[in-house]
Amino acid sequence: MQTKMINVPENFIMGAAVSAWQTEGWSGKKDSQDSYLDLWYKNNQNVWHDGYGPAVATDFRNRYKEDIGYMKEIGLTHFRTSINWSRFLVDYENAVVDEDYAAYIDDMINELIANGIEPMLCLEHYEVPAVLFENYGGWGSEHVVELFVKYAETVFERYGDKVKHWFTFNEPVVVQTRVYLDAIRYPFEQNTKKWMQWNYNKALATAKVVALFRKTGLNKRGKIGVILNPEVTYARSTAPHDQEAARIYDLFFNRVFLDPSIKGEYPKELFELMEKHGITFEHTKEELQIIQTNTVDYVGLNLYFPHRVQARTSAWNERTPFHPAYYYEKFDLPGKKMNPYRGWEIYPQIMYDMALRMKEEYGNIEWFIAENGMGVEKEKRFKNKDGMIEDDYRIEFISDHLKWLLKAVEEGVNCTGYMLWAFSDNVSPMNAFKNRYGLVEINLEDNRNRKLKKSAYWFQKLIAERQFET
Ligand code: BG6
Repeated sequence: MQTKMINVPENFIMGAAVSAWQTEGWSGKKDSQDSYLDLWYKNNQNVWHDGYGPAVATDFRNRYKEDIGYMKEIGLTHFRTSINWSRFLVDYENAVVDEDYAAYIDDMINELIANGIEPMLCLEHYEVPAVLFENYGGWGSEHVVELFVKYAETVFERYGDKVKHWFTFNEPVVVQTRVYLDAIRYPFEQNTKKWMQWNYNKALATAKVVALFRKTGLNKRGKIGVILNPEVTYARSTAPHDQEAARIYDLFFNRVFLDPSIKGEYPKELFELMEKHGITFEHTKEELQIIQTNTVDYVGLNLYFPHRVQARTSAWNERTPFHPAYYYEKFDLPGKKMNPYRGWEIYPQIMYDMALRMKEEYGNIEWFIAENGMGVEKEKRFKNKDGMIEDDYRIEFISDHLKWLLKAVEEGVNCTGYMLWAFSDNVSPMNAFKNRYGLVEINLEDNRNRKLKKSAYWFQKLIAERQFET
């Protein structure tokens, strides 16, 4: 087989990501500082894989210096994580800072910078305080939007001079999809209107935080955006009914956030659909104006696998509440390539297809890959005699995806980087440590000790040489 060298442009971000709640652990946390997911874990520990969850996670809160040492060794140029809203404050109404937690964030940021690694910080990666969910219904409430803006202001005041990369949310559509569309998480209520309201309130919160960021003057030295997870959608066929199913899927799950945050407005077709089904979110003209005026500087995109849809082949049960699946069904592509260790389709061309779409539909907006990676179950079976995980499958996954991404970059799309999910193994909602994603192994049988996987050395070489063979 012929091999080819692929060059990575100078200044192209080559980093890795995690989030606060998936790594830091509860050390020093008060019960009143539970996030929505902390509470979910406390009440339903049995449904989290092997009982692991955010309680200890990777113990990053205590071991961040060690981890930053590994980041430096690998050569990461950027590291993305979040500030845990539920932990950063002790009083959410008055934005009173938990000085102990903030001191850890201070030091983590300083340590990253001292090691030549740019911090990229997200204000909410599923860390909405549980008490705001209980008292106000979470993101359904405008009051929560206001509290988020207050929290953002406190964070900017403290770290705005040091951190240049800011994001409001990570995957803002996902939580409410699990909670109010799929109804698989507390409060187990299928309510599409609430789903839409959460989507809208998060778009409004993004615009308000963008406005605040600009008002403080921080935009002169930094940027603010949002991290989205566009579900790269392919219709089963070119037949009009399949195309229509894909178009509607895209409206509900992608354009619902891409459009307001980048273009400053909702697609008119989405409004029509919401009105038709009685799920239009509560809004005012003034709020839509705020969204229009305060679009983001850039977006991060989390891409993992393609989403294939077709028109419904079975009738919709009219007695069930409206759900976007009224218009589509998921479709399994025969012969598709699968990740044998996680059950997700592997289709690296999503990088290229999404890249072209960004250029065609969203103009010159700057964007980067904020997450892409390969989850592997029972990964310790791949350890060699020295105890190192030989993850050649991950090396292949990353290089195939990077190849497609860099092809698009060569063709002129405005993509500025690639961040791997994840820097280290970490806990995900309910699957906990089941699927491993890290460049760095977290050994649960041995005091959560860290060990670089083969992919970490491969990534290290790639970053150092700014090229790789494929
Ligand atoms: C991504 C999420 O979609 O999936 C991450 O953004 C999560 O937060 C990752 O960790 C992996 O999920 P899972 O279910 O394979 O562990």
